[in-house]
Amino acid sequence: TPPTPKSRFRVLRFLWRLTWLSSLGGAAYLAYHIYDSKHPPEQLPLDPAKKTLVVLGSGWGSISLLKKLDTEDYNVVVISPRNFFLFTPLLPSCTTGTIEHRSIMEPLRHIIRHKKRAVKYYEAEATKIDVDRRVVKINDFSDIKGNVSETEVPFDYLVVGVGAENATFGIPGVRENACFLKEIGDAQQIRKRVMDCIETATFKDQTEEEKDRLLHMVVVGGGPTGIEFAAELQDFFEEDLRKWVPDIADRFKVTLVEALPNVLPMFSKALIEYTEKTFKDENISVRTKTMVKKVTDKNIEVEATQADGSKVKENINYGLLVWATGNAVRGVVRDLMGQLPAQKNSRRGLAVNDYLVVDGTDGIWALGDCSATKYAPTAQVASQQGNFLARLFNSMAKTQAVEEELRRLDQQLQASTDEAEKAQLTAEINAKGRSLSKVKQLSPFEYSHQGSLAYIGADRAVADLNWFGGAISSATGGELTYLFWRSAYVSMVFSLRNRILVLTDWLKTKAFGRDVSRE
Ligand code: FAD
Ligand code: NAI
Repeated sequence: TPPTPKSRFRVLRFLWRLTWLSSLGGAAYLAYHIYDSKHPPEQLPLDPAKKTLVVLGSGWGSISLLKKLDTEDYNVVVISPRNFFLFTPLLPSCTTGTIEHRSIMEPLRHIIRHKKRAVKYYEAEATKIDVDRRVVKINDFSDIKGNVSETEVPFDYLVVGVGAENATFGIPGVRENACFLKEIGDAQQIRKRVMDCIETATFKDQTEEEKDRLLHMVVVGGGPTGIEFAAELQDFFEEDLRKWVPDIADRFKVTLVEALPNVLPMFSKALIEYTEKTFKDENISVRTKTMVKKVTDKNIEVEATQADGSKVKENINYGLLVWATGNAVRGVVRDLMGQLPAQKNSRRGLAVNDYLVVDGTDGIWALGDCSATKYAPTAQVASQQGNFLARLFNSMAKTQAVEEELRRLDQQLQASTDEAEKAQLTAEINAKGRSLSKVKQLSPFEYSHQGSLAYIGADRAVADLNWFGGAISSATGGELTYLFWRSAYVSMVFSLRNRILVLTDWLKTKAFGRDVSRE
């Protein structure tokens, strides 16, 4: 039967109420989270009877661990030179001001102040992990130092999550002349240098040749960091710079240099081709099979492999050089590896077992980019490892508590002469024994790959995704994928505060464009 006006009215009334209810629910959720973030509860003090768990680093691995860890069970000490968590997937957007840098920084103090038991934080670098003495040597390398800027922190358990540093492969001139893209400071430096190159290129009487050099932005490395940065930079030029500095419109050029035959090797062939075509349409020049051999303050020396296999040397002038050729092992990790014979064959970082215990140690774990596993060094892997270690430590604490309780009951049983009490204690011991075997059962770490996403410019992204635990996979690229990219990242940003800041920045950029002032 066709719907009557009355039933139509009922449906509309139901939808109206549903809208109201969900808006109310949303507002209550927001209000609760805002209140909660501003009013941390009282915390338990450190407890000398608990074991000391020292966590090195405040990146993807360590913060994922910290967020899920039940700090009631341990005295936790975090050591990192960075007193904030950095949401690296949106770092390329900070280089052009699409997103402001503070929007992707989450203060560590906010995170630790919300834990049940107080967590100690020292802003310092771990300079040495002494395996035999079970201490970490730490140094405060920040600008302001007190009387003490170097000391030792003892540990019962240690988690190493110090990430990796930028690889340069010993190529001369890279460290002195190139910008990297790993930290907030790098993004700020790039933003400043782009504008400096532009203002210098428009300086009175600048020669034509020098203008071309200054406006040539070269990116080395066709992995996702290099691709996303090149894409953001070209967007900046097309959407803002071209309009505000029309003199440079015909000269500004972005070139991406990659040693391998193609960019984004971790993506499927179709998406690699789609990315290369999109870059061509966007006027980003891609130089594959071109290896950088030397860097000076104004040019790079490259060796390009021709179609017939012959190699040709060439000099490419640049105004800005961004170096994004992947990861290298940090000094403190190299030193630790040197102390452990079990690590002698490991090259990419700390070799770990299935439970992320550093090979050759007892009570030392490693996660993220500083560990060498069969997985790629990504935030996805590091955060899953952090979650795994939190489960492991929570379960270890429960196991210890049950074991202590079992010992106490056993002593009571030995001392008891009353048959009824003995029977009751035996039943209790059996029940505790069963729960002990349950908490002890933690399967080894297993990574679940959700897929890879990258922004490629002009409101397009590429995505190789796995659904339902890898049962279905899809490879997509384009504007819809870009919307997916945005919603995926905004949902992954750790806190509500940062989520709101990122959304506001995107809106601000859409409405007013990016800021072209040089700070
Ligand atoms: P990090 O997150 O690098 O954290 C290391 C921490 O250790 C930092 O807090 C650092 O200050 C601290 N530290 C350094 N030295 C010491 C020391 N000596 N003592 C104590 N602490 C120390 N991955 C993805 O999966 N998806 C993406 O979209 C993505 N985008 C990226 C974009 C960019 C620009 C970059 C650079 C990386 C991106 N990645 C992405 C990779 C991802 O960021 C890393 O794999 C991830 O950060 C690794 O986490 P981690 O905890 O091992 O190290
Ligand atoms: P990468 O290791 O993925 O890529 C570096 C590229 O530089 C390689 O393709 C390499 O061939 C090239 N290269 C090395 N030396 C060179 C030379 N001398 N001349 C020219 N090219 C040279 O590094 P990247 O992009 O920094 O990524 C690091 C890690 O972070 C990866 O695991 C990556 O998956 C992850 N990441 C993921 C992102 C995403 O999922 N969207 C974004 C950024 C990083």
